[in-house]
Amino acid sequence: MYPRQKHLLAIAGLRPPEIGHLLDLAENYVLLNRSGKTQRDLLRGRTLINLFFEDSTRTRTSFELAGKRLGADVINMSVSTSSVNKGETLLDTAATLNAMQCDLLVVRHGQSGAPHLLAQKVEAAVINAGDGTHEHPTQGLLDALTIRRRCGRLEGLLVAICGDILHSRVARSNIHLLTTMGSRVRVIAPPTLMPSGITALGVEAYHSMRDGLRDADIVMMLRLQKERMNSGLVPSAREYFRFFGLDSEKLAYAKPNALVMHPGPMNRGVEIDSAVADDPLRSLIKEQVEMGVAVRMAVLDSLSRGPR
Ligand code: NCD
Repeated sequence: MYPRQKHLLAIAGLRPPEIGHLLDLAENYVLLNRSGKTQRDLLRGRTLINLFFEDSTRTRTSFELAGKRLGADVINMSVSTSSVNKGETLLDTAATLNAMQCDLLVVRHGQSGAPHLLAQKVEAAVINAGDGTHEHPTQGLLDALTIRRRCGRLEGLLVAICGDILHSRVARSNIHLLTTMGSRVRVIAPPTLMPSGITALGVEAYHSMRDGLRDADIVMMLRLQKERMNSGLVPSAREYFRFFGLDSEKLAYAKPNALVMHPGPMNRGVEIDSAVADDPLRSLIKEQVEMGVAVRMAVLDSLSRGPR
């Protein structure tokens, strides 16, 4: 970026030119990836450590691919086989990684703020790959890239983010990014899954899909994050689907050509119906995964150049 900062910990605080720059850079990486070429000189001799304290398929794999396509030495630290299981603290893990002189540290953690803490303790540039319910900045960027490529712009679009807003770091990063870039954002959730005070982030809040989806250009569905719920916030998966699950009937409330997104992993039949998720004309879900690699290459590229 021109990052003003050394790390990528959140979307909140980034300015439109910084976001625009990352998206433009990612566009180049989409072309590079599609051509089957790599650019292995860029991060040659640099070490990237993927430190994941929570499960991941897409995010971890795409950071690994992104690092390798740029020539970095990539190490995946699986916490289930690391000394964290023996009681080591996050800060001791940080000190160990620091002594190994890693250059880029990609962190996913169940606690909001954990990557910020690590960033204060390590020399490496830290990239937040999802922290608790706080933020998931590269997901926000890849979603924005997917939308911008398909619609040609972000400004003036109406994006409806639907489902478990309360526990979603994806929703938070998208809200910050899309409102910063001039989109209009609505959030739709049952009252139990709607964070109080969410409208202070510049979004409109709805409890009904019929009202919230009206005129939407983009319908972004979220997974019910059961692992973050300690009590029954949702009566049953069947009832949830009836009111908040996206099927073609509810999609018809949105604009006629509205596009469907989901960060994955999907719970088919809970928040989204397969017919909608797999509809090649309406669903951008596979494209989101492709954009994930390009966006992560752009982030690694720009952070490896250091703050200006
Ligand atoms: C999301 C995450 O981990 O926050 N997934 C992802 O990164 N693709 C959303 C989720 O887990 O539901």
